[in-house]
Amino acid sequence: MLNIGLMKKNAIEKEIEKLRQEINLHNYRYYVLDNPVISDAGYDKLMRRLEELEAKCPRLITPDSPTQRIGAKPLEAFGTITHTTPMLSLDNAFRVEEANEFDDRIKKLLKISQESEVRGREIEYVAEPKIDGLAIELVYEDGRFVAGSTRGDGYTGEDVTQNLKTIRSIPMRLFQIQKPAPAGIKQGAGVRSQESEITYPIPSRLEVRGEVFLPLKVFEKINKERAKSGEPLFANPRNAAAGSLRQLDPRITASRPLDIFCYGVGVVEGVKFKTHWETLDALKVFGLKTNPLIKKCNGIETVLSYHKEMESGRDNLPYEVDGIVIKVNDIELQDRLGLRTRNPRWAVAYKFKPRQETTKIKNIEIGVGRTGALTPVAIMEPVEVGGVTIERATLHNQDEIDRKDVKVGDTVVVQRAGDVIPEVVMVIKEKRTGKEKPYRIPEKCPLCNANVERIGAIYYCTGGLSCPAQVKETIKHFASKRAMNIEGLGHKHIEQFVDDGFIKDVADLYYLKKEDLLKLERWADKSAENLIVAIEGSKRPTLPKLIYALGIRQVGEHMAHVLAEEFGSLEGIMKTDKEILLTIHEIGPETAEGVYDFFQEPHNIKVIEKLKKAGVVFPQMKKTSGKLSGKTFIFTGTLSSFSRDEAKELVEKQGGATASGISKKIDYVVAGAEPGSKYDEAKRMGLKIITEEEFERLLKG
Ligand code: IVH
Repeated sequence: MLNIGLMKKNAIEKEIEKLRQEINLHNYRYYVLDNPVISDAGYDKLMRRLEELEAKCPRLITPDSPTQRIGAKPLEAFGTITHTTPMLSLDNAFRVEEANEFDDRIKKLLKISQESEVRGREIEYVAEPKIDGLAIELVYEDGRFVAGSTRGDGYTGEDVTQNLKTIRSIPMRLFQIQKPAPAGIKQGAGVRSQESEITYPIPSRLEVRGEVFLPLKVFEKINKERAKSGEPLFANPRNAAAGSLRQLDPRITASRPLDIFCYGVGVVEGVKFKTHWETLDALKVFGLKTNPLIKKCNGIETVLSYHKEMESGRDNLPYEVDGIVIKVNDIELQDRLGLRTRNPRWAVAYKFKPRQETTKIKNIEIGVGRTGALTPVAIMEPVEVGGVTIERATLHNQDEIDRKDVKVGDTVVVQRAGDVIPEVVMVIKEKRTGKEKPYRIPEKCPLCNANVERIGAIYYCTGGLSCPAQVKETIKHFASKRAMNIEGLGHKHIEQFVDDGFIKDVADLYYLKKEDLLKLERWADKSAENLIVAIEGSKRPTLPKLIYALGIRQVGEHMAHVLAEEFGSLEGIMKTDKEILLTIHEIGPETAEGVYDFFQEPHNIKVIEKLKKAGVVFPQMKKTSGKLSGKTFIFTGTLSSFSRDEAKELVEKQGGATASGISKKIDYVVAGAEPGSKYDEAKRMGLKIITEEEFERLLKG
């Protein structure tokens, strides 16, 4: 690198330009393609050099320089920007009938009726994930980002240019990406699309519309920090994104990494697009970020299955999606269909089942967990959330109740995501009448009347295994699928057995006799026989499963594997002490204490002896690193030879790990039949995708 002092102005200008192009390219690779080719240190070096040169020649600083993304001074207030064409909103469809009605309406308006000669012709749609964030507009003039605004009332929005600049996936200059993308990015004339042979010149004016959102990971992190500092939490990523974008101080926006998906255009000067698909293709070519899951669909049926697929895969996405948007692809047809007041007739939002609802808390009850932890549970007026009726939601602990200021009688927002336990998100204070009652966790366990003690944020029942709730939960855990996997032994049965005094600990399960069961209500010859067979069949667990089943504090499935690998047998773990445990990678003081204390407890030793006597096999495990050690797998689609759980178990048996969400850490994506959205994500990220047959070959080594 040259010494700046000796450089000619011209050379500085050239180097600045080259650095900007290079940095822009790396931003694109990192933030749009999620596929960086430079180290953080390498990137920082380029930035520092650019800063250095710009400091030397401040007149060369342009507003679109990568150095100008943050650092602008806080504003007094936002200015306003009038949209050249209004930013429309969408009609909603909630049920499949409504989506079909949308299609019928379009066909009717376009006179594609049953009788006409184009009978049976299907409309070509583009189906897109509906991102739950906030709509914005970006304006590019001659390829340079000049202004950005919120949707506002559709006609006029707030000028959030400074804040949008902090979003790294928004290019400050439009790129011109040529095949093979993205290595051959050039700044010059005609651009070749990745979809077709059409070239797109950079428009003299381009208004891009898109959705700014907060990735779920960032949302969770922000809420955690807010909880710590006693600030009110954001109810959902959309509110958090809005709160972050509408900050007068751009440095606050910059500290909350927002992202964007572009999904349309306003006024475009200098280029004309024939279809929406082509528009999206051009945006992509210009280096703007579009959603990789957008799909062209011929006919409404294809759209409906897209909706289904997206809804079932929504939990695997790193951002919140609240439905799909269906758009007529052909822009001439769009124009013929036109608008209905504020909504286009050519598009509709077909929503997923909402995950948040409001309801009223009737009462707060206490649940006692396996470890004796008392969890306050809100008993609510039943509501449907995400397609399931719920009437109980966790309030986590007393601190959460206090922080959210939840009282009995409050109207609250509840939420449910996938298999996660429903939770109370926040109170709608405007609905208070004054009759609401504050709540405190009792001082005695409501189930066994033992004293309650507080450790950290959690209250524990001190009754141990004399507390029937703890006994029941311990047995439920022991018998569960991922532990000893006793099929057909439901929670209701376990409660019945404990309540009727048939079993007092997990080992008693193996001493149950068919005759005993037949004495109980609801048991018949066949069901009793089946259960006894299932219990018998659970006597040969793998070592990690056995360890996990015991319900040792701090020992989840992963830790059970670590312990099994390290000690090779249960006896080995029983004999060890805290110091040795602490030398093992991944084991911290709390886990070491949990493991050590468990085996100091005479009751636990007695139960282990009883299990052995009953014929439960305590396996030995050879300390192998396994064929798949160090490799992480993820599964998508249906496998023909195994269930998901079986496949995962096989991987783990050979020392490999499995993941539930797509990330760069994954070594193999195993794609079965009809793979879901993970497949597309994996493809986009360039991960190694293998077939079930290839997976089987890997297992065999
Ligand atoms: S298209 C004329 N596409 O949903 C079309 N909107 O009321 C206008 N949204 O305000 C919107 N993802 O904030 C479109 N792929 C997508 C979208 C999307 C999210 C939001 C946007 C809009 C609202 C619909």
